[in-house]
Amino acid sequence: MDAREHDGGSWDRATLDLIDRRSSTRRFDADRGVDDAQREAVLRAASRAPSAGAMMMYSIIDIREQATLDRLAVLCDDQPMIARAPWALVFVVDYCKWIDLFEHIGCFAEAYVARTGRPPRRTPGLGEFAIAAQDAVIAAQNAVIAAEAVGLGSCYIGDIVENAEDVRDLLDLPEHTVPLSMLILGPRAKERPATPHPTVNLVMSERYRRADAATLDAQVAEMDAMFRPHAMAAGERVLDIYERKHTSDFMAEMGRSMELWLKNWGLGK
Ligand SMILES: Cc1cc2nc3c(=O)[nH]c(=O)nc-3n(C[C@H](O)[C@H](O)[C@H](O)COP(=O)(O)O)c2cc1C
Repeated sequence: MDAREHDGGSWDRATLDLIDRRSSTRRFDADRGVDDAQREAVLRAASRAPSAGAMMMYSIIDIREQATLDRLAVLCDDQPMIARAPWALVFVVDYCKWIDLFEHIGCFAEAYVARTGRPPRRTPGLGEFAIAAQDAVIAAQNAVIAAEAVGLGSCYIGDIVENAEDVRDLLDLPEHTVPLSMLILGPRAKERPATPHPTVNLVMSERYRRADAATLDAQVAEMDAMFRPHAMAAGERVLDIYERKHTSDFMAEMGRSMELWLKNWGLGK
């Protein structure tokens, strides 16, 4: 049964509807800004996101200065819409704050090390990255939903991980940080219908099930149908992704920069 038709009286249908009708906003209404109450609601919702051990292993950089937005528009694979957004939030996977806290209360002091036998100092590894990255992204998604609730559109900018050296300098990012997610936010220039999302081969019962040929055909057909009028021949959507994403220059740059970011985190030095 379609969950949208369920008549459960106790359901918070407004929340489900909001999630259902959300779509990414790439054009903002230049005549309307973002007010303080909207900013506060969005940032408050981000801070209320689940966080591993409530350690809040992320920081949110609140960007409003035009010069910074202009620079990010160039550094994030030349996307001019970033410069036209009134507000951007960068969600930084952040273990620097914990290293600072450990240091601050004396965990790295010789006396503590001698007394407890703990290792003298270790940098965060992949384990910390796995949970801290989830913290950051979950907070970002809470911000997306809250933005929608207060009348703001938003769009993720995955390209924030590119040009690592320049982004690090622009945002003063220290070691043990990675700027994994960015959102641009603002009042929508016009309402947009929700983008269709494919669902074939998405949910698997109990075990991973690798798609057979029939499922792959169904997946291709579903994507082509959503990609009309661009998809004329079977498989055009998959080909489009292969050419525009999988084998693109921006993906190569993302990979290069992510290696630097993981070094900055403390891995592979
Ligand atoms: C991790 C991530 C990175 C994204 N990066 C970009 C981006 O750099 N530029 C852009 O225009 N959209 C970006 N998007 C938005 C997606 O293209 C969008 O979510 C997708 O097409 C589905 O559309 P919808 O959000 O309207 O449902 C990104 C989304 C995610 C989740």
